[in-house]
Amino acid sequence: MKFQKIKTLKGEVTIPGDKSISHRAVMFGSLAEGTTEITNFLQGADCLSTIDAFRKMGIEIQNAPEKIIIRGKGLHGLQAPSSVLDMGNSGTTTRLISGILAGQTFESTLTGDASIQKRPMRRIMEPLSMMGAKITSINNNDCAPLHIMGAPLHGIHYHSKVASAQVKSAVLLAGLYAEGETFVTEPALSRNHTEIMLRCFGADLSSEDKTAKVCPEPRLQGQKIHVPGDISSAAYFIAAGLLVPGAEILIKNVGINPTRDGILKVAREMGGDITLLNEKHEGEPTADLLVKHSDLHGITIEGSLIPTLIDELPIINIMAACAEGTTIIRDAAELKVKESNRIDVMVEYLSAMGCDIKGTDDGMIINGGQPLHGTIVDSHMDHRVAMSFAIASLIAEGETKIKSSDVVTISYPNFYADLTRLCQ
Ligand code: S3P
Repeated sequence: MKFQKIKTLKGEVTIPGDKSISHRAVMFGSLAEGTTEITNFLQGADCLSTIDAFRKMGIEIQNAPEKIIIRGKGLHGLQAPSSVLDMGNSGTTTRLISGILAGQTFESTLTGDASIQKRPMRRIMEPLSMMGAKITSINNNDCAPLHIMGAPLHGIHYHSKVASAQVKSAVLLAGLYAEGETFVTEPALSRNHTEIMLRCFGADLSSEDKTAKVCPEPRLQGQKIHVPGDISSAAYFIAAGLLVPGAEILIKNVGINPTRDGILKVAREMGGDITLLNEKHEGEPTADLLVKHSDLHGITIEGSLIPTLIDELPIINIMAACAEGTTIIRDAAELKVKESNRIDVMVEYLSAMGCDIKGTDDGMIINGGQPLHGTIVDSHMDHRVAMSFAIASLIAEGETKIKSSDVVTISYPNFYADLTRLCQ
């Protein structure tokens, strides 16, 4: 797909449902008794992989136009899948479902696309094995495909080396089937959607500081879940609003959970003009965001802030490229094991656009403020890379071509249509 520099950006956009929350709503609804109804579910390919997996385990899931309806069968209601479970591109499906499958009475095999088959699974295999799970990497490379033989589990206190909500959630979900309590302590707090939503379904789950604790064998009850807009998807419009001269956009219904709102903190610290309107604080907090073009300056982004904006770092790189002065990103080695190696890929194509950027072991150093020019970008089949460079193209001189641009269907199927509508 080809993109050109635009004059300005004006109008309103309503952001589709949060990917992390949509996955969890389907998973927990499947494990609950009775009906769960999900509105504003994200119809992205990753979340559809989750629906598919639970259907293969005997759960009736209706994908009606306005809502998802799940007839849950309770914690022990899943059936052995008739075939291999295909996770597609979804790391969240793969890691969270492994925690659930570890405690079943049947065996299962999980696989996924080329990217999933390269992503590290040792991080869940290790704690789940400590709990008694029988989980193996079929090619012996600590990646999918994985074979899981359901087994009796016991609670542990797991001290995770990475701040990862997927690891934390896999362990907590296995903890639902374990004997005794299960604890997970993280080095920094990662997104807490599992904790919030499992509690809402009726699990005995508590959190204090960086530790979450779950008790086994809850009776989960079906719920009505309204999924807030995904701040990770809103991030592209936040950046576009800040970077395009004269822009002013209203981004509606955005989840602003404090474990996810690092992009707002960083954008404001860089000098971004963002106003929160219509804030609501029941369950997962939401707000509308009014974003106006701003002159940005470089900052340092590190430490416990990183897990709260980990998926937004590619678009933050674009903001940093346009900001005056130096932006340093540290403590973000996790970028190397996302859908692509996001340090290498962002450094390669931002350099090609004329930015002074250097990759480091755990982040990047960007000397911003040079004008960007169009280039040919390969998304490396990474949805966030494609969307980040689509935004960069709006301010770059000349034409930008993005290869495999349709990968945005993973998290934001209408991204290009929504963006085009705002462009003037
Ligand atoms: C997610 C957690 C994060 C994030 C991913 C979604 C989740 O991954 O990058 O896009 O839904 O739990 P990690 O747990 O690997 O940090």
